[in-house]
Amino acid sequence: MLAPECRRRRICHTHEGGNHVVQLSLMMDKLAFSDTAAIVSLSRSVGWDYTPEDVCVFLSAGVLFGYRREDGHLVSSAGVFTYGNLASIGVVMVHPDFQGRGLGRAMLRRCLDEVGPVPTMLVSTAEGLRLYTSLGFKTVAHIHKLISKGSLQWSSEPACRGCIANLSDTDLMDVVLLDERVMGANRSRFLTSRFPLLHSGVALRSEDGVLYGYGMAVRRQDLLIIGPLVAPEHVSALAMIRQLTDGWDGSVRIDVPSHQAILLDSLVRLGMHEEERPPILMLNGHSLPGQRESLYAIAAQAFG
Ligand SMILES: CC(C)(COP(=O)(O)OP(=O)(O)OC[C@H]1O[C@@H](n2cnc3c(N)ncnc32)[C@H](O)[C@@H]1OP(=O)(O)O)[C@@H](O)C(=O)NCCC(=O)NCCS
Repeated sequence: MLAPECRRRRICHTHEGGNHVVQLSLMMDKLAFSDTAAIVSLSRSVGWDYTPEDVCVFLSAGVLFGYRREDGHLVSSAGVFTYGNLASIGVVMVHPDFQGRGLGRAMLRRCLDEVGPVPTMLVSTAEGLRLYTSLGFKTVAHIHKLISKGSLQWSSEPACRGCIANLSDTDLMDVVLLDERVMGANRSRFLTSRFPLLHSGVALRSEDGVLYGYGMAVRRQDLLIIGPLVAPEHVSALAMIRQLTDGWDGSVRIDVPSHQAILLDSLVRLGMHEEERPPILMLNGHSLPGQRESLYAIAAQAFG
């Protein structure tokens, strides 16, 4: 861990602008809720579409760092989410005007200082891969990012063992415990901060009331994003997706781990197509912890 006096770091760069040589002085800072609009705007600059709600969940569930110019303008960000014995890194963005000057590397080092030697995962874009591998991260699996152009094309109702009901706040404690078993890490901060923002949520319980599956979906503009999704097997996973998307006639996105081949086939038959297959990278560990065979969709690439 860094001593508090080392937490703000300054980077000086010489930048050739027109005929002038401008000395850029950038300061790394811990980000706060007052930076929400700046983080949303930074995401647009790298072609991403974070909403203020997404950013509020990032700030509630983790710690975000970023570089500011002397006038306070935010030019980069990186976030770390600690779940006890596992950490996830995300929200890594450097404004295009400031890329290739070491900001990404310095922010990553700051995030890694924050978590110490615990296993740390991230889902990498093609652009980030060189940075992460140079820091020692190794690929352990892949995520299939699936999108539908319109609503899902159900030809039959997926049968399901157990009873699916809408998720309510009384389910939350059980959800945190089930999620911990599946992820091998306690994500209560993330789950409780996402819960109020759900478009839809489902709980799958056995006849005697034991929770053995749950699913969440959030809306981002015209897209419904499903995840996390935990289920005992793929038919129950499909039945939960059916309920999560009930009444939604727009596009759907779901990020499925590569070991869920049967669900992936079913989703393609429902009209989804694979847009990307980004790698999951890890540092300080060789495989993801927990009972991952029950994880059918991740929450978002930042949260793992
Ligand atoms: C990926 C990203 C965060 C890197 O930040 P950065 O400040 O430009 O990176 P750095 O200057 O610290 O460089 C780190 C390494 O990444 C490499 N790199 C930087 N930008 C790159 C790019 N656009 N494509 C490929 N490699 C790149 C550099 O070559 C450098 O390696 P080196 O030191 O061995 O030369 C930045 O390009 C970005 O914001 N991209 C868009 C959003 C994104 O994809 N984020 C990653 C999410 S997982």
